[in-house]
Amino acid sequence: MLKIKLGQLLNSLSFALDAAENRYFNHSRRTAYIAYHIAKEMELDEIDIIDSYFISLIHDIGMAGYLSKYSVSHIHNDFNLRKKHCHIGYEIVEKVPYISKKKDYLLYHHERYDGRGPYGLKGEEIPLVAQIIHLADHFELFYLRQEEELNKLKDIDSVYKWIGKYRNKMFSNRLCDALLYALKRDKFWFDLTNSNINTVLQLIEPERDILIGIEDLHKISEAFSILIDLKSRFTYKHSQGISNITSKFTSFLGYNPLMIEKLTIAADLHDIGKFVVPISIIEKPDKLTSEEFLTMKSHAYYTKLILKQIDGIEDIAEWAGNHHEKLNGSGYPEKLDESTLTKEDQIIAIADIFQALIEDRPYRKGMSVKEALNILDSMTKKGELSRTLFLDFKHLVSHEEVLV
Ligand SMILES: [Fe+2]
Ligand SMILES: [Fe+2]
Ligand SMILES: [Fe+2]
Repeated sequence: MLKIKLGQLLNSLSFALDAAENRYFNHSRRTAYIAYHIAKEMELDEIDIIDSYFISLIHDIGMAGYLSKYSVSHIHNDFNLRKKHCHIGYEIVEKVPYISKKKDYLLYHHERYDGRGPYGLKGEEIPLVAQIIHLADHFELFYLRQEEELNKLKDIDSVYKWIGKYRNKMFSNRLCDALLYALKRDKFWFDLTNSNINTVLQLIEPERDILIGIEDLHKISEAFSILIDLKSRFTYKHSQGISNITSKFTSFLGYNPLMIEKLTIAADLHDIGKFVVPISIIEKPDKLTSEEFLTMKSHAYYTKLILKQIDGIEDIAEWAGNHHEKLNGSGYPEKLDESTLTKEDQIIAIADIFQALIEDRPYRKGMSVKEALNILDSMTKKGELSRTLFLDFKHLVSHEEVLV
């Protein structure tokens, strides 16, 4: 039975979420580390400690994709955007296992202790874990990140001053004291550096990680496919469309239910690396410069990099990350060829090309099914795609409704 570690999964997905926030590199990971230590310092029970950590990793999930045009600091300063990304996050995790039970922490992660936050909750009305995430988030973004540039890290007096401004207004005294206590340890600062944080998080209580099965992973991948699609109006149903095609194509090909589910998850997540590509490149109506094209191509690289960090889904990471590879070696980013590419890689590739062709793009209108099939046909003739698989696909598309 396939078991995946939820904390490990959220940690690697947080990389994609941070990239989506206009490159506040490691924002979620550092927030998670700080929140975890505040919770520990407060001697909360085990569940609250783990939740402070897990939920922090995805606390800004509502911002990725949909709000990728705005920068994080803009979100945090703008009242409406603050409220909006909390709410989108709350909705997007509706079906995500474990996290759905904790969605209030996402909704209220910008509430202020004095009641002047987006939803007007006050004092201890605000769930404690949400209060912790708020403080960790704010400290990461408005102290650590700013001071880091000024090279003033670890100046405890300046932290005291900074926290003094927010005491009993934004955050409770109890939380501020817990943070100050944690900050007294040198290790805390060393751990928080950009070069160490990822390794450090992998060492945080891996034995207490929560194990999830394939069905739960599928619910998470579906939520992420919606997020990925929200990134651009041209791809608003791209990943969801490909999953739908993949699931029909694989059952048509006679795969067993487990493989169908795994391939559909790969389809959901195949473009997760797109979070790393700026929206200005994704939606550029003109031809991309070679530099922009390289950035665009990096999305497939990031897809594999993100998914490969999750134990147990190495095959899914391969299928998803290889969706732009071609059998004759002309694809990207690894220039793989028929000696290593699998049938499963090709299934995702065919579904991706077909779905992309029938969608509108900034530089062209969506094609008809017939036109799209003609293009796939010519690609097989150039040796880019499997002819046998294409003929199966054509058979399926001509006899069944595969579009969403
Ligand atoms: Fe936020
Ligand atoms: Fe944040
Ligand atoms: Fe792609």
